[in-house]
Amino acid sequence: MQKFEKYLQENLPKIQTFHPIYEDALGMMLIAGGKRFRPMLLLSVVDAYEPLLYDASMRVALGVEMFHTYSLIHDDLPSMDDAPLRRGFETIHKKYDETTAILAGDALNSDAFYSIATAPLRDDVKIKLIKILGQNGGSGGMVLGQAIDCYFENTPLTIEQLKTLHINKTAKLIAASLLMGAVIVDLDKKTQDRLYQFGLDVGLLFQIQDDIIDATQSEQEAGKTTGNDGNKNSFVNLLGVQVSINKADSLATRLQQELTIFEKPLREALESVINPYLFRHKRK
Ligand code: IPE
Ligand code: IPE
Ligand code: MG
Ligand code: MG
Ligand code: MG
Repeated sequence: MQKFEKYLQENLPKIQTFHPIYEDALGMMLIAGGKRFRPMLLLSVVDAYEPLLYDASMRVALGVEMFHTYSLIHDDLPSMDDAPLRRGFETIHKKYDETTAILAGDALNSDAFYSIATAPLRDDVKIKLIKILGQNGGSGGMVLGQAIDCYFENTPLTIEQLKTLHINKTAKLIAASLLMGAVIVDLDKKTQDRLYQFGLDVGLLFQIQDDIIDATQSEQEAGKTTGNDGNKNSFVNLLGVQVSINKADSLATRLQQELTIFEKPLREALESVINPYLFRHKRK
């Protein structure tokens, strides 16, 4: 984690321009912090099998974090969730303006793919990584989830539809992070598929917990705007806080079981990243 943080600090977008705030806007949400859950998932898989590829994977992990950060910057825009606080800081559209926030998100989206494309890895591996991020982050992934999330505000979905929403907006990028790690170390197809499916479950849990956090934590505790899902299809709005907590906890328990299907080095590496988040809504 510290290694990744250092790498991120040293590899922020650096653009020579007379634009007075551009560079700050590009980097501010990246350096603001965050749990770095997705890059840590990717790097943990690499570390379990090919520690020698750890450094080379850093650019890929940074790409994933850039992509995720782009999704947060756009998620907070007035036309989406209209949130003034993110990662403990003012959002970009609050500090500067909406145009700057849209463009910072656009830039990080493209820079994410550039970062992966320029990693010191084999070209055929990098094509696979770019494909996975594009497929899970784009029109059939995160963006689809965000589109459903925003289009159906004030229109209740069924629980199955809500799951589809959460799988797309959050779980696919989390599953993709694990899969990208698996592709870098060339795990067999069966293990790759298992890791991806496991990642979808982790991601669904992660978003149910996020829904609970919105309803139960203060802005200070969460470091972001909370109490903001009133018009949304969220687990809390469809099922209530307590049922959502019960659902999250039983899914977390199931995930602890699912972890046992992976061989020891992988299981231990995954546990070290995932365990702190299994009951995350209970942490303050
Ligand atoms: C927030 O993601 C948005 C969701 C998909 C739930 P994180 O909870 O991973 O946010 P950071 O990266 O730690 O800020
Ligand atoms: C956003 O979900 C998921 C993304 C793709 C960014 P939320 O809107 O619930 O995330 P938060 O609560 O603002 O972090
Ligand atoms: Mg949102
Ligand atoms: Mg939001
Ligand atoms: Mg949320």
